[in-house]
Amino acid sequence: MTDGRSDGDGLRIVPLTGADAARLHAFYSSLGPDIVWFYEPYGPSPDADRIRQALVPVDAGRDVAFGLEDAAGAILGHAFIADLRGPTPTFGIGMASCAQGKGWGRRLAETVLAEADAAALPLVTLTVVQENVRAYTLYRSLGFELAGECTFRSLNDSYVMHRRRA
Ligand SMILES: CC(C)(COP(=O)(O)OP(=O)(O)OC[C@H]1O[C@@H](n2cnc3c(N)ncnc32)[C@H](O)[C@@H]1OP(=O)(O)O)[C@@H](O)C(=O)NCCC(=O)NCCS
Repeated sequence: MTDGRSDGDGLRIVPLTGADAARLHAFYSSLGPDIVWFYEPYGPSPDADRIRQALVPVDAGRDVAFGLEDAAGAILGHAFIADLRGPTPTFGIGMASCAQGKGWGRRLAETVLAEADAAALPLVTLTVVQENVRAYTLYRSLGFELAGECTFRSLNDSYVMHRRRA
């Protein structure tokens, strides 16, 4: 696992485990509708048990998850790859408003994808709402390529993207 990375903001990237369920739940509970519109990997308003369940495969080594934490230990961002050993390992990322636009999303995504590369995963997939230009641009720059369309909130409103190991 990657060690924490930090900068002058007192923020750092740390691996998450089941022990982080309460603060990860607090993170998901804090996200406003503008973020949830694009990012709700555990459905709208996930309860504490849903978040605990989401971390079970992390503890079992089937998923990998990292968080961006502040000096007080609050989680401000979460990125993961689910189903590492399955046919379509799936990437997701979301940042709190206060942590956006400062390079942390890129760093968090790179940290998680480094785990995929260390595990020699041939493929990582994701879906992104087509109007989410910021995320789409980030993903393209990280090596994801357009692979098709899919439905999230309305018919074919999202892209499927694939990142294949060179
Ligand atoms: C998308 C998200 C993860 C990006 O994280 P971030 O910390 O805000 O972004 P960063 O500051 O690290 O910038 C990452 C890249 O995004 C792209 N980007 C940022 N702002 C952009 C904009 N206004 N237009 C297009 N691309 C933009 C750039 O490629 C940028 O990299 P660069 O600055 O090196 O060129 C974050 O904004 C977020 O969580 N948004 C809400 C939830 C969400 O959309 N999740 C993804 C669901 S698929």
